[in-house]
Amino acid sequence: MSLSVIILAAGQGTRMRSARPKVLHEVGGRSLLEHVITTARELGAAEIHVVYGHGGDAVRQALAHLDVSWVLQDKQLGTGHAVAQAMPQVKGERVLVLYGDVPLIRAATLKRLIEAATDDVGLLTVELSDPTGYGRIIRDADGKVLRNVEQKDASAAELLVQEVNTGFLTAPAANLADWLGRLRNDNAQGEYYLTDVLAMAVADGLTVETASPADVHEVLGINNKRQLAELERHYQRLQAEVLMDAGVTLRDPARLDVRGQVSCGRDVEIDPNVILEGNIKIGSNVKIGPNCLIINSVIGDGVEIFANTVIEAAEVGAGSRVGPFARIRPGTVLAGEAHIGNFVEIKKATVGQGSKINHLSYVGDAVIGSQVNIGAGTITCNYDGANKHVTEIGDNVFVGSDTQLVAPVKVGDGATIGAGSTITKDVPPGVLALSRTPQVSREGWKRPTKKKV
Ligand code: UD1
Ligand code: CA
Repeated sequence: MSLSVIILAAGQGTRMRSARPKVLHEVGGRSLLEHVITTARELGAAEIHVVYGHGGDAVRQALAHLDVSWVLQDKQLGTGHAVAQAMPQVKGERVLVLYGDVPLIRAATLKRLIEAATDDVGLLTVELSDPTGYGRIIRDADGKVLRNVEQKDASAAELLVQEVNTGFLTAPAANLADWLGRLRNDNAQGEYYLTDVLAMAVADGLTVETASPADVHEVLGINNKRQLAELERHYQRLQAEVLMDAGVTLRDPARLDVRGQVSCGRDVEIDPNVILEGNIKIGSNVKIGPNCLIINSVIGDGVEIFANTVIEAAEVGAGSRVGPFARIRPGTVLAGEAHIGNFVEIKKATVGQGSKINHLSYVGDAVIGSQVNIGAGTITCNYDGANKHVTEIGDNVFVGSDTQLVAPVKVGDGATIGAGSTITKDVPPGVLALSRTPQVSREGWKRPTKKKV
């Protein structure tokens, strides 16, 4: 049966106290709405309709890259009204209603719901010890669902029911369209309730089958920053568990943040306060020290990253050692066995096999060969105030400390540069290049002494 998903996302989210629309807030570095759209895709939905609200153009713009249809609900007249706005566009035989502010719903749970529904209606429900605020599920003596009653419309007896509506509902599209067309808003809130279709389904001889999520966090919505933080922590716990189940050693699973997709080889060890963002590929036998931020990067086998290192859009070759306090910026490729030490910044540079830049250097727009030693305090002067230029360094080059390489400039294989040099001309292979004022020693020179007044 072809599936059309309708995602309700018209809520203002006033309680977030933010200029940003609620569904654009993020869990795990991805907007709430994008989580839900991704899950809908996993279900193989033929079409996804997102119902957005007045002023929700920012939502459309932010998620313009996603292939969904956008449906404006100008006035928020209730969940039934919201779904009804999308119905004219629905071509699938079955509709599934999801929520843009309930991000952690799992595809497996929704699959079970759809299977349980067969040709009828499916409703995801949970038992809550405190059901306050939720719609209550009213069943007959045989346990068959009769209807839902909202908190504000419920009698004292109905309020005691602990089985609640999570909001997730699936129904045959033709029936749903018919029921929605017959909704009325003569209730305590003056809204068109989606939940009223349950009683209509029963009246039409359909059954309302129920399923429950494996984990209650799947159905928790976000209305304020506390709930956002709570679901973020839960999401992070799940990410940490996935990594641990794959064999990664996390010194403290509560102090790792994953904001993207991470793949790891065997025997990876991660110390506390590491943030992994975007697409990260980590090889085997990798150690990541505390307080590191790694974004969209590939880390080879046997790499050791020491404390307080930031790596973005880079490749760190097998056996390299990076940090502590290193900054590896976009476009950097470290071949194997590179050593990048403290307070070293590398941008858009390739560093050959076994080369070392161990202390206090800036290397930008450079191509560095293998087995090169870059001394402490070396700087590639890559920017002339208008354009960037490349520094090329061959294999087996030794660059003495405190050298400036004024690009564009080339240093040939095996050359040595004396400490403190300012290199403005190409250096041929094998030579010693120096650009230093000669040292003088003055005999008998006296230091000034303080004048007496
Ligand atoms: C709804 C259910 C309730 C359920 C609860 C679970 C109804 C009538 N009630 O109540 O049974 O227990 O969710 O959280 O469905 N929305 C729109 N347009 C509207 C109204 C709502 O897009 O006109 C969206 C909201 O942005 C939100 C979702 O629908 O994402 C739920 O709306 P909300 O008003 O929070 O429903 P509840 O009163 O919580
Ligand atoms: Ca709600």
